[in-house]
Amino acid sequence: MEKNIVLIGLMGCGKTTVAAILSNKLNKKLFDTDSLIIQDQNKSINSIFAEKGEACFRDIETKIVNQVSKESKSIISTGGGVVEKLENIDLLKKNGIVFYLKTAPETLYERLQHQSDRPLLKTENPLETLKELLIKRENKYNLADYIIETDGKNPFTIAGEIIDIYEKQNS
Ligand code: S3P
Repeated sequence: MEKNIVLIGLMGCGKTTVAAILSNKLNKKLFDTDSLIIQDQNKSINSIFAEKGEACFRDIETKIVNQVSKESKSIISTGGGVVEKLENIDLLKKNGIVFYLKTAPETLYERLQHQSDRPLLKTENPLETLKELLIKRENKYNLADYIIETDGKNPFTIAGEIIDIYEKQNS
C-alpha cells in the first residue's frame, strides 16, 4: 500500500501550507487533523479548549488520528500537539512516512504573533511558551522518520525536499 506523507511540528512551522503544496504537486488527497476536529465538533479549536479543556481536545484528536491513519496515498497535516500522545505517532507511522518540520521558536513567534487561534499561546510570553513546548516535545518530534530544517526556506523548497525523499523511497 502506498504510504501517506505525514507532517508534524510545532504551531506555525508550515505544516498546513506545505501539505497543500504536496497535495497539489503529487495529486494526493489532503487531510488536516485540526480541520477534521473542527468539523467533527462543529466548533473552533479555541471553543473546544475553552469549553471542554485540553484533555478532551486530545481525545478527539486521537479519534481523528485513528481515522486518518487508515488512509493511504494521502497527505496528512497534524496539530502541533499530536505527539503529546505516543499512540498517535504509532498510528501515523503504521501507514505513513512522518516528516518533522523543525523550526526555531523565534521564527514561529514571528509568524504567529498576530494570530489568535492558538489557545496554548494565550499566555503572557508566547515566545517563552513556544520554547517550553519545544523542550517538552522535541524528543517526540524526533521520532519522525525524517527531520526537515525549515528556517530560511520557503514552503515550496520544503515541499520539494519532502517529495525528493518520498520518491526515492518509492523507487
Ligand atoms: C496545538 C496546535 C494547533 C492545534 C491546537 C493545539 C498544540 O495546531 O491543534 O491549538 O498543542 O501545539 P497547529 O500546529 O496546526 O497550529
